[in-house]
Amino acid sequence: MKGIILAGGLGTRLYPLTKVTNKHLLPVYNKPMIFYPIDTLVKAGITDILVVTGGPHCGDFMSILKNGQQLGIKHLEYAYQEDEGGIAHALSLGENFAEGDSITVILGDNTSDSDISESVANFKEGALIYLKKVPDPQRFGIATFDPKDGSKIIKITEKPHKADSDMAVTGVYIYDNQVFDFIRQIKPSGRGELEITDVNNKYIEKGQLNWSELKGYWWDAGTFDTLLEANNYWAKKAKG
Ligand code: DAU
Repeated sequence: MKGIILAGGLGTRLYPLTKVTNKHLLPVYNKPMIFYPIDTLVKAGITDILVVTGGPHCGDFMSILKNGQQLGIKHLEYAYQEDEGGIAHALSLGENFAEGDSITVILGDNTSDSDISESVANFKEGALIYLKKVPDPQRFGIATFDPKDGSKIIKITEKPHKADSDMAVTGVYIYDNQVFDFIRQIKPSGRGELEITDVNNKYIEKGQLNWSELKGYWWDAGTFDTLLEANNYWAKKAKG
């Protein structure tokens, strides 16, 4: 299995910090943010990794990651995303890299200490998404469960005004190679982006979306408050 980290976009929610560097290179305690998703992949045995990035500071990734060997990566590639076409658009740039195989995808602003190695090793087909209970469902893709079968997801809604549950779709996904066909089938959303939620809903339509609860700590660090929270968590953990 190969891994893809999506680290494009302009990070406008973090202006002015992201005027001088890419969001995913901002510090989360003692490391740049992108080290955390890389670590999650490497711990799961995924050492063939593509980083999709873009924007004016994308060259900074090379300065810090180099060939990735100091982080346990065996093969590191980069792809450049023109504009902010959305998460699914960024993922589409990984089609050649995937070479027909399944892929584990992590959003570059998600940090987690969860061990996903078992589900990576056991993955066969369809999609596997990871959910986590959140206090603020309006900020995330949110799962709606079948009222007759509480374990079955019937739809995912991106940033709902009124959420059907408090189970958020985290930015950790495992997809088979159909994902690239599904991305070709979806249309830009109201905010002009190809949404990963629409891709996940395609898997639901085909009855091929599985989910698991993400164990351990997980948080995205895309706003000032969540960046501060992530810093505090990782600082406390590092100090034991
Ligand atoms: O963190 C989990 C949430 O991430 C999910 O619950 C949502 O369903 C999903 O849409 C996403 O929501 P966000 O609003 O947090 O996404 P954001 O626009 O902040 O993008 C997250 C990461 O995806 C970002 O750090 C880099 C990457 N990205 C995003 C866009 C829009 C790209 O690589 N290219 C892009 O064009």
